[in-house]
Formats: sequence, structure tokens, C-alpha cells
Amino acid sequence: MARRPVLKIGDPRLRQVARDVEPDEVGSLALRRLVDDMIETMRAEDGIGLAAPQIGEPLKLAVVEFEEESPRYPGMGSVSATVFINPAVTILDQAEQAFWEGCLSVPELRGVVHRPRAIRVDYLDVNGTPCAIEADGFVATVLQHELDHLQGVLYVDRMRDMRTLTTLDEYRRFWADQPVPEFE
Ligand code: NI
Repeated sequence: MARRPVLKIGDPRLRQVARDVEPDEVGSLALRRLVDDMIETMRAEDGIGLAAPQIGEPLKLAVVEFEEESPRYPGMGSVSATVFINPAVTILDQAEQAFWEGCLSVPELRGVVHRPRAIRVDYLDVNGTPCAIEADGFVATVLQHELDHLQGVLYVDRMRDMRTLTTLDEYRRFWADQPVPEFE
């Protein structure tokens, strides 16, 4: 396993649409090694998700992992390490929710993003087994954020009000314990 450098906003590779993982790649040693690298990189960077394009691999592949006890996301539920291959999102509830989002590819910033509050994701697991997960609340936001990376979309593209763009220090100072802001 190896920690890999995470591409940062401005790198054109973050803006490409990723390609499907081919059937003969699913379950291959090369793909398992890539997944291992992604999990190691996500954990080393204190991230809660990582998409393959973020380490320069233009594949429809993402990993998500976070725990309820996470000091960065207290009380937000948990997801044990999950690998999503060729994921497809279906919106189950169009009603929107707003959360602060950050991204390893957009370092030291946070911003408020509105997204549908409930989704289903159909995907293959690392063995190629078809799976589905239904999620709402913060987990739904995390999954939509990660799967956006596979379309070349970053959370800043989805921000409705750029006035909520905040450095991490100022987020902690002014907003961490407050409701999501709505400016006049
Ligand atoms: Ni991200």
C-alpha cells in the first residue's frame, strides 16, 4: 500500500468525467491495489471519502469511511469502509438539506452546499457483487459529494451562495457550533 498525492483544485484531471471500471478490471489485483492506496490516502489525510480521480486515476471508483466518534463530524452517523465501483445515484427525496462541505482537493476551505436529502446508490463492491445503499442526512451528502468527483464536479460548483466560503480556521471560529448560515 502507498499513500498517493491528492490533486488540488485547478488540476484539469479533477474536471474529467471518469470512465467505467471494466468487468475484467473488477476484482483484479491492480484494482485491489488501487483501492488499498485510496483507503490509505484517505486515512492519512483525515478524509471521510476519496474518489479515484483525486489521485489521478480517471475511474468510476470511490471509497467512503467515517465514524460517529469522528471529532470533525460528531453525531453525523457512520459508514464503515465502503468501496463504490461504477456507482449510480437515484434521488429518493428531492427535498434539500444544507451542510458544510470540505474536500481534500480544495484544501483549508469549507462552504455550504444544498443537496437532495435522500438517495440510493447502486454499485459494485470490490469483489464485483452488485450492491445498493439507501442513505439520508449527512451520509447522503457525503456520498453525493464523492460521486460528484466521478463527473468532474467539485462541491464549490454546487454552492448556492459563495458568501459562505470560509477558511477552516474561520469555520471553526465562527460557524462550527452555529446553524448553517443564510445571508440576507
Ligand atoms: Ni471531495
